[in-house]
Amino acid sequence: MLVKLAELASAKSRESLMDSPRNVETAMYVPQKSLKKTFGNVHKKTNIHLMKGKQEVIDSLNAGLTIELTAVNQYFIHSKMCESWGLHKLAKHYYEESIEEMKHAEEVIDRILYLDGVPEIARYDIINSGSSPEEQISYNLRMESKGVETYNKAIDVCIKFQDSGSRDLMERMVVESEESVDWAEAQLDLIKMVGLENYLAQQIGEPK
Ligand SMILES: [Fe+2]
Ligand SMILES: [Fe+2]
Repeated sequence: MLVKLAELASAKSRESLMDSPRNVETAMYVPQKSLKKTFGNVHKKTNIHLMKGKQEVIDSLNAGLTIELTAVNQYFIHSKMCESWGLHKLAKHYYEESIEEMKHAEEVIDRILYLDGVPEIARYDIINSGSSPEEQISYNLRMESKGVETYNKAIDVCIKFQDSGSRDLMERMVVESEESVDWAEAQLDLIKMVGLENYLAQQIGEPK
């Protein structure tokens, strides 16, 4: 009799779960650790939505996202300013950088969403427009160096929480930032070697 009642109860609860459409907005986010402690593996049979990623990893990804979103805007304003100064080659470089940074931001956002986290899309670092091409290069060097530091810290967090997918993404991002650091350093070296005027003469190029 008891077995029959239990069967009936579980059939009823299955029925009600199937009947009620899953409401994404009100899905409960319960830390996996505390849920397991309380209910063992029961959560597998419930409608409770568990976060796939560790909050520490999501926070690290969001720190990277802040750098990317800052870079999108900083490179974009540098591109527009260089265009207005007639430095079309430099303007083209910054425009392409800005688009690249947007693609990086997209990848980081996709990863955060995959992990069931919330992408911090309204968080920015200081966007430095700079008042000369040389100053802009220095600001970009500073920003990209911060990116290298941020992503290296994120990689440590990914290793700690055994999140290989996020680690792979962070490793690609750190290499991208290192390449931009390298580019900015090379420009500053060139300015020292050939002088600012000669350097800028090489950056005039053709208008779009
Ligand atoms: Fe980037
Ligand atoms: Fe970058």
